[in-house]
Amino acid sequence: MNDNLHQLRCFGCGARISGSEAQPDFRCAECGDLFEVDYPGWGQRQGHNRPNPGALKWLWRERRCSSEALDHSGVWRFRELLPILDSFGNAVTLREGNTPLYSLPRAAKALGIDQLFAKHQGMNPTGSFKDTGMTAALSVARERGFEWVACASTGNTSAAMAAYAARAGLRSLVLIPEGKIAWGKLSQAMDYGAVTCQLKTDFDGCLRLLTQIVREAPIYLLNSVNPYRLEGQKTPAFEIAEAFDWNVPGHLIVPGGNLANSSALGKGFRELRELGLVARMPRISVIQAEGANPLVRSFATSHGAAMEPVEAHTRATAIRIGNPASWRKAARVVQDTGGWCLDVNEAEIAIAKAEIGAEGLGCEPASAVTLAGLKKLRARGDVAAEETVVLLLTGHTLKDADYTIDFHRGTLLRDEESAGFEAQIDRLRRNAISVEATPAAVLAAVKGTAG
Ligand code: F0G
Repeated sequence: MNDNLHQLRCFGCGARISGSEAQPDFRCAECGDLFEVDYPGWGQRQGHNRPNPGALKWLWRERRCSSEALDHSGVWRFRELLPILDSFGNAVTLREGNTPLYSLPRAAKALGIDQLFAKHQGMNPTGSFKDTGMTAALSVARERGFEWVACASTGNTSAAMAAYAARAGLRSLVLIPEGKIAWGKLSQAMDYGAVTCQLKTDFDGCLRLLTQIVREAPIYLLNSVNPYRLEGQKTPAFEIAEAFDWNVPGHLIVPGGNLANSSALGKGFRELRELGLVARMPRISVIQAEGANPLVRSFATSHGAAMEPVEAHTRATAIRIGNPASWRKAARVVQDTGGWCLDVNEAEIAIAKAEIGAEGLGCEPASAVTLAGLKKLRARGDVAAEETVVLLLTGHTLKDADYTIDFHRGTLLRDEESAGFEAQIDRLRRNAISVEATPAAVLAAVKGTAG
């Protein structure tokens, strides 16, 4: 590893170790907290490791026209800011990143805000933001000579890991909570050849078990406790800043599950500011599902200083997590950027998802908490009309087609969950209609839905 360029710094006690000294579970031997990748050279103004902002902006743009595979990756295009490999030739890439930033004109109009965008990370090779983290951490696993990699997952991490492992010729082990992940994601793990174990426990139980396993066997842990995952997942911050010509938007809204993504994006923007590439950070808000909201509770009871795990329940299965590993890092990001942490209920999630679908984009349920959260923030007066807001959509709409079909059929929510939201739901539902195979019958159906 290129230990002269990066170190691992404990988020809790500040202890520093080299990358090769990390324990298999990536916990600090001193205090048990998580590590963050740190680049000491960047802090020294005259240091030869400190990148030059103007040259970097030019180089990253130039790479978009390059014919090199590595330059086609929206992660490795920014490789000067993630010097974690001995050789970039070891990078395993599926051309992740470089995802679209779409405007959301209908939602913006409904909310009375001028500028609303969606950074759609579901447009990655395996359909979720996890690809950006996986290309980074799996490349480290390959460089270190591991033959097996593993993760516990609510579905997307396992899909991404299985794909990147297959590309690299490594074996992969997936632990998932039985019956609690979307079929699309489970099918991906199988398709890419992972050994998939369905366990009679929840995500938190799967992660606990895997932590024991990696202590006993030479298997490389690819959950987001692995700090290299966050190095890849910070790069959408660079893409967002670049898309706004290095004037960062006012507010970024991110779904919260295990809370690594919000931590990574905060790190990305913080590093851009420290290196002089941008002048300030956006406000970063984290939105959780009401039934899986330990960080929201933490802010309510201790301003993010302590967190009690909860037993998690939500149909947004990707974020059905009660004991998020990266909660301290995420709490710091929300606090440092002046963001908010709030939760939304099952009806609010389903409505927001249908609205994102009606914009022609679509996303999976966990991603839709961002729009649901923005509506609440706007109603509270915490988002001004002239503010530029970016929602981070984390997964593709095809990841959880059952959820979408159930919503449009009217079988998703229980009556007590949809109470008070019936009119909004009715306006959005577009159930498939059975019609006779004649032009007249089809045209009558069209007429029936017009207006
Ligand atoms: N959105 C989607 C679609 C996800 O898959 C996840 C997490 C999140 C949001 C939350 O991100 O955990 O960094 O706060 N999915 C993980 C998985 C846990 O196993 O795929 P986070």
